[in-house]
Amino acid sequence: MPVIAIVSQKGGSGKTTLALHLATRAVEAKHPACVIDTDPQATAAAWGDWRGDFLPPVVTSPPARLSRTIDNAAKEGIGLCVIDTPPHAEAAMREAIKVADIVLMPTRPRAFDLHALEPIADMLQMHDKKAFVVLNAVPSGAVRQIAEAQEAAKALGLKTCPVTFGERADFHRSSARGETAAEIDSRGKAAQEVSSLWKWVARHLEIKA
Ligand SMILES: Nc1ncnc2c1ncn2[C@@H]1O[C@H](COP(=O)(O)OP(=O)(O)OP(=O)(O)O)[C@@H](O)[C@H]1O
Ligand SMILES: [Mg+2]
Repeated sequence: MPVIAIVSQKGGSGKTTLALHLATRAVEAKHPACVIDTDPQATAAAWGDWRGDFLPPVVTSPPARLSRTIDNAAKEGIGLCVIDTPPHAEAAMREAIKVADIVLMPTRPRAFDLHALEPIADMLQMHDKKAFVVLNAVPSGAVRQIAEAQEAAKALGLKTCPVTFGERADFHRSSARGETAAEIDSRGKAAQEVSSLWKWVARHLEIKA
């Protein structure tokens, strides 16, 4: 089954936000998706609790048991998994990359955040995986900042996703309520960015968007 891993060593880069929004958008596109939360902070799982019975389900898993968790999810009828990972945890990141078909690295376009991509770039060299930096919380009109971030990623041998996310209040307003940006404003920019990323990822996974 298609597996998307969201990784970044930097705290607060947008991993959980991206994981929850992508999985929910996949459900909207009729994929029976789930989120697998490997972070001991269990932020995605808390969002799942606030959300109640609404899809997608969020399951927790120690990183070392990811393969088993994915197999079990498949037996339960899940058809797509989005893995959320903790910051500052190389082992968890390695396990997620191992089982993924595509790896997304949300990163704020700032020097220290881009610097934190180095260990991921090293790790990815050992795997033949589709992997992309996703620039997140980009200030409006920061064209030059985007170009510089793309250059910095390229210098590390990393590709950058053409879809970028702006600084959008809808992301934190919705997540705090167990919802998504599209659920509080279906025509907002945050919702559009999520849709664009979903379509782009689906194309890479060769599945229906
Ligand atoms: N594009 C965005 N615009 C505005 N706020 C954002 C954006 N992306 C994420 N946030 C907010 O930034 C905070 C951190 O995001 P998130 O929890 O997704 O990061 P994380 O990488 O999972 O953090 P951690 O490493 O601690 O798990 C949250 O409050 C979230 O709502
Ligand atoms: Mg998180």
